[in-house]
Amino acid sequence: MTQTPVIENPLREGLTMERAGEPCALVIFGAHGDLTKRKLMPAIYALFVQGLLPHNFCILGTSRTKLSDDQFRQMMKESVGKFGTDMPVEEEKWERFAACLYYQAGDTASAESFTRMAGRLGELSERHGTRGNSIFYLSTPPSLYAPIVAQLAAAGLAKRDADGGPWTRVVVEKPFGRDLASARALNSELHRVLEERQIYRIDHYLGKETVQNIMVLRFANAIFEPLWNRHFVDHVQITNAETLGVENRAAYYEEAGALRDMIQNHMLQLVSLVAMEPPISLEADAIRDERAKVLRCLRPLEAGRVSDFAVRGQYGPGWIAGASVPGYRQEKGVAGGSHTETFAALKFYIDNWRWADVPFYVRSGKRLPRSITEIAVHFRRAPHRLFLPALAGPSESGTPNVLVMQIQPDEGISLKFATKLPGPTTQLRWLSMDFRYSTAFGVRSPSAYERLLLDCLTGDASLFARSDQVEISWEFLAPILESWAQPTAGGPEDYASGTWGPGASDDLLAADGRAWRLI
Ligand code: BG6
Repeated sequence: MTQTPVIENPLREGLTMERAGEPCALVIFGAHGDLTKRKLMPAIYALFVQGLLPHNFCILGTSRTKLSDDQFRQMMKESVGKFGTDMPVEEEKWERFAACLYYQAGDTASAESFTRMAGRLGELSERHGTRGNSIFYLSTPPSLYAPIVAQLAAAGLAKRDADGGPWTRVVVEKPFGRDLASARALNSELHRVLEERQIYRIDHYLGKETVQNIMVLRFANAIFEPLWNRHFVDHVQITNAETLGVENRAAYYEEAGALRDMIQNHMLQLVSLVAMEPPISLEADAIRDERAKVLRCLRPLEAGRVSDFAVRGQYGPGWIAGASVPGYRQEKGVAGGSHTETFAALKFYIDNWRWADVPFYVRSGKRLPRSITEIAVHFRRAPHRLFLPALAGPSESGTPNVLVMQIQPDEGISLKFATKLPGPTTQLRWLSMDFRYSTAFGVRSPSAYERLLLDCLTGDASLFARSDQVEISWEFLAPILESWAQPTAGGPEDYASGTWGPGASDDLLAADGRAWRLI
């Protein structure tokens, strides 16, 4: 029998890699979709150019659309050219990359499609030396996650690590369920086939450089941690603001809304990183245990008092960057009487030794005045207000000491403090010490998908959500979801596009004598 020559990633030659993935094939379900074009393929190509893909590697895209390998390669080339902005397509490199790219049309409901896929993966394994190891990336509608994994198992393509032989990993996109019951059901379907450590639930916020820096800031420096508790922290604010509206995602967003789309996953993951205890090591489960513990300590929300701690809003018409924009209900695909919230704000407590009685305020909304995500830790005031009459202006209200971790854009960290204005009198001004990634480091930051794909290739699940985290966060939000779904609950409060959400969001903090930070 003639042996097919094994094709190795030629860009890896001569590079010393800190992190090398094992040989494997990456199978992308939904390869014709938006996520593959905008995020996945540009990220995989960027990994390739940096020599970070395994020596023995190939990609098999699949979806219902009929395409040849060459048509798929051409489509991906255009996508990387369009969306991979900081890693332009260079002809010679692309040719080498494209030699690892394949496509096979298939129907996820047909067992025959999976049998054909098994045959194709067998050939590719021989040609690229991937040793039968596979990562299946599910970039499909969520209703297909469990059926695809069941079909993979039936075709002998997915099996438990414990059974030995080539390994299988499955990457699952969000949303992971739409409430506690559906998330539990999905977890148990996946666990029928796979061990938990083979399941990589993507939360792309965890792949952002600045988000990973939260743990470094807290646990590689000795000066912040002694202050990081109820004795010194007055409260914590987390803001995620987007100027964009629903865009072309109404079909998905109408079913989701801000609470499911942003708070259940991204925002609660940020909370867990800010509030967690130091992990005993950097092992995936050591970190995920600590993050899960934070979520377990969230004080349960009282079903009868939801409006005291949760606010929802929906954008109406308004102005963004000088242009007039339609309201949510006028967007394509949105029901005229839609009650879907495009803004949600929450107040809650973490009932543990470190955080008892420290309020956490979290808000996320679309069509707000700026696109920004930040975490602001507000420290308590000085115990004795020696300089109170000497404040220089109205902006010097509240505490001077706020540590702001700006997740995006203009990523960085700032620490605010009080200073004396120069002059013969003692007048105080709040100033800030700033660190900005862009000026401090002259290197590009990898995209979140690059980082997460690389982690999956190397078998590191620390930055992925574990089943218990997902279930606890749904459980925590259940009273709000139930209350908002009541026919008698009314709808979300309107806010004009280009403003900071409904008035009730300000009232949430005003009731405690606080205000959202001016951003
Ligand atoms: C996605 C949400 O998970 O995150 C979108 O579905 C949202 O609605 C997006 O716009 C925000 O991500 P980023 O990285 O742009 O802040």
